[in-house]
Amino acid sequence: MRNLSMSRPMKDLSHDTYSRIQPHIHSWTKMYGTSFLYWLGTRPMLLISEPELIREILNNRDKIYPKAEVHAFIRKLIGDGVAASGGEKWSKMRKLANYAFNAETLKNMIPAMIASAQMVLERWKNHQGKEIEVVEEFKLLTSDAISRAAFGSSYEEGKKIFDMLTKLTMLVGRNAFKIKLPGISEIWKTGDEIEAEKLEKQIENSILQIIKKREDEVMAGDVENYGDDFLGILLKAYHDDDQSKRISLKDVIDECKTLYVAGQETTNVLLSWAVLLLAIHSEWQEEARNEVFKILGHQTPNADGIAKLKIMGMIINETLRLYPPVTGFVRKVDRKVRLGKLTLPADVNLQISTLLVHHDPLTWGEDVHLFKPERFSEGLAKATNNNKAAYLPFGLGPRTCIGFNFAITEAKIALSMILQRYAITHSPTYVHSPVQNLTIGPRHGIQVVLNPLQN
Ligand code: HEM
Repeated sequence: MRNLSMSRPMKDLSHDTYSRIQPHIHSWTKMYGTSFLYWLGTRPMLLISEPELIREILNNRDKIYPKAEVHAFIRKLIGDGVAASGGEKWSKMRKLANYAFNAETLKNMIPAMIASAQMVLERWKNHQGKEIEVVEEFKLLTSDAISRAAFGSSYEEGKKIFDMLTKLTMLVGRNAFKIKLPGISEIWKTGDEIEAEKLEKQIENSILQIIKKREDEVMAGDVENYGDDFLGILLKAYHDDDQSKRISLKDVIDECKTLYVAGQETTNVLLSWAVLLLAIHSEWQEEARNEVFKILGHQTPNADGIAKLKIMGMIINETLRLYPPVTGFVRKVDRKVRLGKLTLPADVNLQISTLLVHHDPLTWGEDVHLFKPERFSEGLAKATNNNKAAYLPFGLGPRTCIGFNFAITEAKIALSMILQRYAITHSPTYVHSPVQNLTIGPRHGIQVVLNPLQN
């Protein structure tokens, strides 16, 4: 059902991504209401769609709703890093990651984000007035930004890793919904599984080289310490004299893998959909550009200016509502519990669909599938009627996205710098075909035309 629905292009540039990408959930909610149980192979899945209950689950106050086991294929991609682990391990790794991406360190990352945007804009000088496919361009930009900001290296250095991650992500997309047969799958491996294991090893070896390079620089006295970026913070913890704070080499590698994956593709698709929406909605493009010129003029973005870009923030919010890169969450019931009117036994998986929540007319109105950034003009609380769980692009509760501010800052910088230079129109060759792999992306890329501004 899902594959069939996603195989055809969407008519009239519709933004009804929910019925297209989760047609099964869409039709079952019509038949069975807001909560129902279904089976994913041998796993019982209970769909929860009432925002009140979603909030309770994601806030996980008494540790009743931990994160469910991550699919074996996804684990190859992110290891047992902060996004996949739980308990003590998660809390230790989360503290390190929070420290690496706090508001102050984020300010120091702005020059790296600007340099990445400049690198891509330099390439675009050869495409002025012509069609360009932006997903591949933003892949360069977002890979470069996370490489510079978190690992102190450029995209060129990390390129091998990103290329392998792209291949592994494709395998994940192809296999994430496949049901494993207990027993047989332990002794017999599919071609995709063998290929994924090979890629996993190669990615880990390449990350080891980046780690070794930093360690060698410190040993040789070329630099004073491991540094303040994410890699430096991980290496400090790896070499910590205090056993209780120390992490293993495998932890360092798994965290690096997680960051490369979580930090790149999500922001890539956000930027790509935002550019498409700006190309289609020229009135919002004009408003956003006016704001950029009013606040930043022709200057490169700075922390104060970025914080003042309100219209840009509304456009980003609405893009993430219609095209949330992460389509949902799965949590597990740890022990028998009462949730609303339901009594849940241990070990049931709870599924929360971000697409459903973001496309619910009860919260967003009958024009729910339309691009209307003005919904966010008086802030998130007003847009959601004070219902935090009605808008979940970055999750909610203790497992909320670590890179939330990083992604928004990067997107604002890139979009401002583009709008300062170009008027964007969408190309007639563009075919609207949103699909879900790891994130929601466009099947055939996004083709736009960049017309240099006269100034
Ligand atoms: C538009 C961009 C992004 C979106 C939409 C996004 C979305 C999300 C969501 C929904 C979660 C929560 C998953 C859950 O609760 O099960 C999450 C977690 C996470 N994100 Fe992001 N993310 C983005 C960018 C980033 C960036 C740039 C980074 C790193 C710099 C990052 C790092 C992480 C990490 C490490 C976690 C796991 C947190 C934990 O489990 O404690 N993300 N992200």
